[in-house]
Amino acid sequence: MALSDKDRIFTNLYGLQDWRLPAARRRGNWDGTGALIAKGRDWIIEEVKNSGLRGRGGAGFPTGLKWSFMPKQSDGRPHYLVVNSDESEPGTCKDRDILRHDPHTLIEGCLIAGVAMGAHAGYIYVRGEYYNEHLVLQAAIDEAYAAGLLGPNACGSGWDFDLYVHRGAGAYICGEETALIESLEGKKGMPRLKPPFPAAVGLYGAPTTVNNVETIAVVPTILRRGAAWFAGFGRPKNSGTKIFCIQGHVNKPCNVEEEMSIPLRELIERHAGGVRGGWDNLLCVIPGGSSTPLIPKEVCDTVLMDFDALREQRTGLGTAGVIVMDKSTDLIKAIARLSAFYKHESCGQCTPCREGMGWVKRMMDRMVEGRAEVAEIDVLEQVTRQIEGHTICALADGGVWPVQGLIRHFRPMMEERIAAYKARKGSPAPTLPMAAE
Ligand code: NAI
Repeated sequence: MALSDKDRIFTNLYGLQDWRLPAARRRGNWDGTGALIAKGRDWIIEEVKNSGLRGRGGAGFPTGLKWSFMPKQSDGRPHYLVVNSDESEPGTCKDRDILRHDPHTLIEGCLIAGVAMGAHAGYIYVRGEYYNEHLVLQAAIDEAYAAGLLGPNACGSGWDFDLYVHRGAGAYICGEETALIESLEGKKGMPRLKPPFPAAVGLYGAPTTVNNVETIAVVPTILRRGAAWFAGFGRPKNSGTKIFCIQGHVNKPCNVEEEMSIPLRELIERHAGGVRGGWDNLLCVIPGGSSTPLIPKEVCDTVLMDFDALREQRTGLGTAGVIVMDKSTDLIKAIARLSAFYKHESCGQCTPCREGMGWVKRMMDRMVEGRAEVAEIDVLEQVTRQIEGHTICALADGGVWPVQGLIRHFRPMMEERIAAYKARKGSPAPTLPMAAE
């Protein structure tokens, strides 16, 4: 059953109404926020835990649990909330719509989250390319200050809370939470080793929680309507509503808030006008942004869109950026393009990523032409295994998983390409794997 309008948290996702404070208030934002805060920090965290909310930035870590890692008592260091709005995962554009059309859902969420983690300051790190979005967000924050919803005694709660917007400068890696913290501190965006996790040592060495925009923005509605209401959507451990970004070879690309665990086919057909040329013309789908391995049509026929169902298929919900590819797609080329992206965005700190992603990209370029030996498909696979899990952050994992998905499901396509090259030009000259581009 599809989510009904009355159960949508983001009531202005499409920007059909005004984003400003008076209109946001009419839609229910900032309704009784002071009273929610008065219920206390422990109550807020318990409600978020009971709702089953898992992080909406891609990794799906339980949000209430993450908040509970923040020290209960201050040891003299301030506590910080950081909102990750550096949305850069190819195929993902959901936080953008929250920023530009529903910014007060996020701002209200920041205040509540700040109280829950004992933070008097929050930073929203906005992707640099989201220029207009950051202007809207800043204007909405200004409105909230003017109305006494932020600042000293925010919302009449007795809690002082300041919110700052910080713009990134176009580096994908700064979406990784510790690289983001480094960047906020004015340094080059390079991930830190974890542990320590940010709750122990985060921004300026102080306890910090980093959450995605959507994660924070759903919290006020969860508290207002109750944890059980949110937990009633989806499946156990995969609860709530979720914004899906549906794009590629569909008739009507869109962002839509739907119930978690909706079947992929229903999602595409109900909201995106179906696959171009009909469902049978589907080749495969990348279900959760570019880092998640593709799934072929036979899996798409029945798979549910949630963390666990997709994990069973050796992929993930990720950011819920659904990239649909029909049979006209040069799939090897599409995945090679992603390899080029990850190579370009590697911060260069870890050798397996810095050198490995370049190697993978060059191999993939040859696979696009078919200028390779069949045995090299196995070599490529082995190299991805040696990169995976051997770096400080998940960028390289995200870089090699699409290649692994291609080999897992479409190896015959790669072999055919190699055979076709040989039929045209004979055996390719051996290529040194580490040869410079
Ligand atoms: P992660 O699983 O390492 O961490 C997720 C969150 O849980 C982090 O905040 C981390 O601090 C916390 N956490 C994990 N284990 C913990 C522990 N033992 N104790 C305390 N806290 C703990 O994943 P990561 O690297 O933060 O995110 C990877 C995901 O990000 C990918 O799956 C991808 O889908 C997504 N992604 C999203 C992008 C976007 O534009 N939204 C861009 C690129 C990737």
